[in-house]
Amino acid sequence: MFDPKDYSSYGENLSDKYDEWYGSFDGRIIERIEEMAEGGPVFELGIGTGRIAIPLSQRGLQVAGLDASPSMLEKLKEKKGGEQVAVKVGNFASFETEKKFDVVFIIFNTIFALQSQEEQVNCFKCVEKILNPGGKFIVEAFVPDPGRFPGGQAVRTIDLNGENVKLECSKHDPAKQTVMTQTVDLSGEGIKLYPLKIRYIWPSEMDLMAKLAGLELKERWSSWGKDAFSASSKMHVSIYEKV
Ligand SMILES: C[S@@+](CC[C@H](N)C(=O)[O-])C[C@H]1O[C@@H](n2cnc3c(N)ncnc32)[C@H](O)[C@@H]1O
Repeated sequence: MFDPKDYSSYGENLSDKYDEWYGSFDGRIIERIEEMAEGGPVFELGIGTGRIAIPLSQRGLQVAGLDASPSMLEKLKEKKGGEQVAVKVGNFASFETEKKFDVVFIIFNTIFALQSQEEQVNCFKCVEKILNPGGKFIVEAFVPDPGRFPGGQAVRTIDLNGENVKLECSKHDPAKQTVMTQTVDLSGEGIKLYPLKIRYIWPSEMDLMAKLAGLELKERWSSWGKDAFSASSKMHVSIYEKV
């Protein structure tokens, strides 16, 4: 039975498929994080298979991170360069580190994995504690769009070819700001389900979470290319600074 509060389950279920499904990414992520780190140590929350962490480490940065899923971390360690990245199994709702960092980052909507507002606020507080003075917390997330769920639900075709079909079936709770999704992979090999529950955060709510933790919004872009953020932006890259 899927338990959304078992934070290891997403990665444990998906680690074999993760890089195949999500392997490609915007290379400017690496450039922006490298610029902001200015050579200092960086820490990734939900480091996963090291998709971003390993290229950053290969540019000479000291990179460390945390993930709830041992299987995702195993994938990271199997990769060339993975041995240079310091990883720990843990929950970013509540964590500490021995060292401090100049940049902490959480990308790809991963902050939404935490199931309650309280845990999300606590995550910001933990980040503040591990940042050096003037250090930055970078969050990449989508801008919530409740209009995607007419009647509180949505079905989207993610992939369709002669061999298989991948569907995303979702239910939305606007009061709790949660979306429960089953990604359904149908192929000749059978049916595989990939459940995920998120609690989304509005950008203004996120700024308040940061404030409660002693972090100030410094910049907000609508892309990793630093495009201006506006009312029509679909995603944001937000840079918070330790005050
Ligand atoms: C969407 S993946 C992103 C992985 C990586 N950041 C990337 O961009 O490829 C989310 C990752 O966060 C991890 N995760 C989810 N909830 C977590 C939690 N509460 N604490 C630590 N890791 C968590 C998952 O195991 C998974 O590896």
